[in-house]
Amino acid sequence: MAAPILVTGGTGTLGRLVVPRLQAAGHEVRVLSRGHRQAGEGVEVATGDLDTGEGVDAAVAGAGTIVHCAGASKGDEGKAANLVRAATRAGARHLVYISVVGADRVPQTGRLDRTMFGYFGSKLGAERAIAGSGLPWTTLRATQFHDLILLVVSQLARLPVVPVPAGIRFQPVDTGEVADRLVELALGPPSGLVPDLAGPRADELAGLLRSYLRATNRRRPIIRVHVPGRAARALRAGANLAPDRAVGRRTWEEFLAERLGSPAGDGAGPA
Ligand SMILES: NC(=O)c1ccc[n+]([C@@H]2O[C@H](COP(=O)([O-])OP(=O)(O)OC[C@H]3O[C@@H](n4cnc5c(N)ncnc54)[C@H](OP(=O)(O)O)[C@@H]3O)[C@@H](O)[C@H]2O)c1
Repeated sequence: MAAPILVTGGTGTLGRLVVPRLQAAGHEVRVLSRGHRQAGEGVEVATGDLDTGEGVDAAVAGAGTIVHCAGASKGDEGKAANLVRAATRAGARHLVYISVVGADRVPQTGRLDRTMFGYFGSKLGAERAIAGSGLPWTTLRATQFHDLILLVVSQLARLPVVPVPAGIRFQPVDTGEVADRLVELALGPPSGLVPDLAGPRADELAGLLRSYLRATNRRRPIIRVHVPGRAARALRAGANLAPDRAVGRRTWEEFLAERLGSPAGDGAGPA
């Protein structure tokens, strides 16, 4: 029987979409999870924690390809290092990683940069752990997923007056389209750092929030706030965007229409 494909983070927003796509392509799938969340149908679950390394050797045992979707707001370099060590011991043939556009362009020079935008630094650390592992690897950098932006704007919309960072744009991409590409890469040869995957349009968080407010029939005053620091300056200059890789098809408004049941495109005006 063919070796199973291990999906770390197979219970997460992206991983949950990757797993059924691999199964549909005829592969056995094993998911590495700390056990906090439910894994999909017909999936073997290996309980483990990439932060401590506990259970990771057992999870990678016999897996030819590993799709590393596990991640958090911090500590992803440590997770990758633990995964790489176990995958090397197990003789994995292909390690596929999902990183973020801007991982290499958002400075981490001061405490403020690291506190507010340390995520980008930890993704770069993880990328380097994988690229330097000696294992055959592929890394895809994507922009923010629609699901993440929805989480952010829905939390912000609870406030009576909503502060948003001034001048920082996002180029949200459909999580299903990221899953499609990641599966294509996982089933192909190790390819190193591949071209970025970004959504069709970039907009400030204020604009994305207004679309959400429209779609949910609400109004909120929005205050644009200047964020200090070098990381924020890089983001205002578009470090997290990939305008030449705006290959994602589904727009934010289309996503909202489907998720919230409002008419597509009904979201560009002021709140
Ligand atoms: N969201 C975005 O906009 C975006 C954009 C670009 C790249 N990415 C990257 O894409 C990946 C997936 O993001 P997502 O939005 O799907 O994340 P998510 O929904 O928060 O899911 C995170 C997953 O990671 C697993 N995980 C977290 N800490 C772990 C640990 N210590 N040990 C083992 N598993 C752990 C969780 O599994 P359990 O809780 O079951 O253990 C969960 O399945 C991440 O690497 C993220 O950085 C995300």
